[in-house]
Amino acid sequence: MNIKDIIRKDIEYALIKINNNYTYKVLIISTKKTGFGQYQLDNLIKLSNILYISPDILYEKIINFIQKKNIYKKIIFSKPGFINFFIKNTWLSKQLEKIFLSSRLGIKHLHPKKNIIVDYSSPNIAKEMHVGHLRSTIIGDVTVRVLEFLGQKVIRANHIGDWGTQFGILIAYLEEKKLLKKLNQNLLCLKDLEKIYCESKIEYKLNQSFSKKSRSYVVKLQNGDPYCYSIWKKLVSITMLNNYKIYKKLNVTLTDKHTIGESFYNHMLPNIVKDLKKKKIASEKDGTTIVFLDEFKNRNGQSMGVIIQKKDKGFLYATTDIACMKYRCQYLHANRIIYYTDSRQYQHLLQSWTIAKKANYISKDLLLEHHIFGMMLYKNKKPFKTRDGNTIKLSNLLDESVNKAMNLIKKKKPNLCKKKLVKLSAIIGISAVKYSDLSKNRVTNYIFDWEKMLSFEGNTAPYIQYAYTRIISILKKSTIPLHKIKIKVILNKDSEVNLAIKILEFEEIILLIAQNGTPHIMCKYLYELATCFSNFYENCSVLFSKRIKTRKSRLKLSFLTAKTIKKGLHLLGIKIAKEM
Ligand code: ARG
Repeated sequence: MNIKDIIRKDIEYALIKINNNYTYKVLIISTKKTGFGQYQLDNLIKLSNILYISPDILYEKIINFIQKKNIYKKIIFSKPGFINFFIKNTWLSKQLEKIFLSSRLGIKHLHPKKNIIVDYSSPNIAKEMHVGHLRSTIIGDVTVRVLEFLGQKVIRANHIGDWGTQFGILIAYLEEKKLLKKLNQNLLCLKDLEKIYCESKIEYKLNQSFSKKSRSYVVKLQNGDPYCYSIWKKLVSITMLNNYKIYKKLNVTLTDKHTIGESFYNHMLPNIVKDLKKKKIASEKDGTTIVFLDEFKNRNGQSMGVIIQKKDKGFLYATTDIACMKYRCQYLHANRIIYYTDSRQYQHLLQSWTIAKKANYISKDLLLEHHIFGMMLYKNKKPFKTRDGNTIKLSNLLDESVNKAMNLIKKKKPNLCKKKLVKLSAIIGISAVKYSDLSKNRVTNYIFDWEKMLSFEGNTAPYIQYAYTRIISILKKSTIPLHKIKIKVILNKDSEVNLAIKILEFEEIILLIAQNGTPHIMCKYLYELATCFSNFYENCSVLFSKRIKTRKSRLKLSFLTAKTIKKGLHLLGIKIAKEM
C-alpha cells in the first residue's frame, strides 16, 4: 500500500485531462499540520504556473477529474496553494485488513523480476576486517534483504581482495621465516597473518633479493603453480573462516556461497588486455598497457590514463573490475549492479565502467550504481582509529559493544540467569552498533557514540526492540485470541488514525530503499511508528476498553504495529529479543 502513490496517480490523471501535454511531477507529502488531513499536494503553485491556471481554479478542475472517490472523505484547497486530502477511515481499515491477512504485509513483488548484483563487504585477505568494512557489509545486506523481499533475483557478490603482488610477497616471506609448517598445521591465526603481512611488506621494500623472489612467486601463482596455489588457498581460507564468523555474529546473510573474489577473474585478464588493444581502446607505451580516457582529465587538462597491465606483465585492480563487469553482464545477465564501497573508490569504479562500456562488455541499459558512504568519526570529529593511528578491528568493536550491553543488563536485571544474560547481551550489543550505523544517512560521516546507541530512548535499537516486546506483552495479556477477531479495525480517535496511516506507509519506505539503498529511512520510520504506538496507547485503552468491539479493534491495531516492526527489523537484519 503506497497511499502517496495512489493520490499522485489520481492527480496526474486529472492533470492530463486538464492539459494533454502535461508532464510535470506531482509532489505528494504527508501533512504536517493537524486539521489538514493526512496528505498534501505540495506543488500546486508550480503546476498552476506551468498550466497558466490560478491555483484555486486548478483545484476545482482537478476535483472534477478525481477517479478514486471512495478513498477521500474530503479534499480541500488551502491558501496560498495546497490541496489537502482527508482519507476515509473505512478505506484505511480495509487496507489494514489486507495487511492483517497477508504474510507479506500486503506488499507485492516488483515486476518485471530483475537480476541485481550487490557487491558488498569485500574485505581483503590476510587482514582482519576493520570498521570501514562494517558500513559496506551491513548497508549492503539491508539492500539485499529488501530487494529479495520484493521478489528480485539478487546475487550477493563478496568481491574479496584475494589476488595481487602481496600474495607473492607473503608466500616468499612465510618460506623465508620457515612458517609454512605452522601454516599447514593450522597454527597461524588471522592476527598472525596480518602481522606477517606488515613485516613482509617492509622486507619487500628493503631487501632486493627478497623482492625478486616475491615477484617470481607472483608469476608462479598466476600461472597456477601447485605449491604457491596451496599456500595461497590456505591464506584465503584462514581469513574467510574468520570473516564468516563475523558475518554470523552480525546477522548478515553472506556465506561462502557468495564469495567471488578478484582471483576468480584472473583467467580472463590476458584476453581483456588483448581485446582492448585490438579495439584500439588500450595502447602500449614502454611496455605498459594504458587506456586513455578523454572523459577524465588530470590537473594539466590531459586525458587520464588507466594502467591495465604493468611492465612486469602484472594486472591491476582496474583490469579485474573490467573483467568482473563483463562476467556479471554476459554470464550473470545483470540488469543492475550496486557497489557498496567507500567514496574514495568512486573514480576507480567510474573509469572501469567507462572502459567496459567502450569495449561493449556491458549492455546499454545496465544500471550501474555506486552507493557511497561516509566515515565513522569520534566525538571530536577525528577519524575512528586506535591511539597509534591504526584502524579499529571490527571484531574488537563488536566484542566491546556486547560487553557494554552486558554491564547494562546486569544493572537492570540483576537476577537474569547467565545463559539468558549472554544471549540478550549479544542481541542488544550487536544490534546497537548495527542500528546506530544504519540509522545515519549513508552518504555523510557520522559520530560514533556508545552512550547514544545503547540508550533506551530516541531512534536506537534498544528503543525499537523494547517497543516491540512491550506490544507483544500487551497482546499476551489479552484473553481474546487474535485469529478470533473478525471485525475490521475501527478508527475513531486521532491517535488511532495516525497509527493506521503510519502502518500503511511501510510499503513506500521499502520501495524507497530498493531504489536508493538507504536503510536510515527504515530506522526513522520504525522510530515514528513506535512513537505513534506510544501515543495511541496513552490515549486509547486497549485491554480495558469497555466495549468489546473497541477492545478487539485496538488489539488488532496493536498486532499490526508489532507485525510491521518485526518485518522492518528483520529487513534491517536486527534481531528481536523475546523479553527485555
Ligand atoms: N576489497 C576492496 C576494499 O577493501 C573493495 C572491493 C569493492 N568491489 C569492487 N568490485 N571493486 O576496499
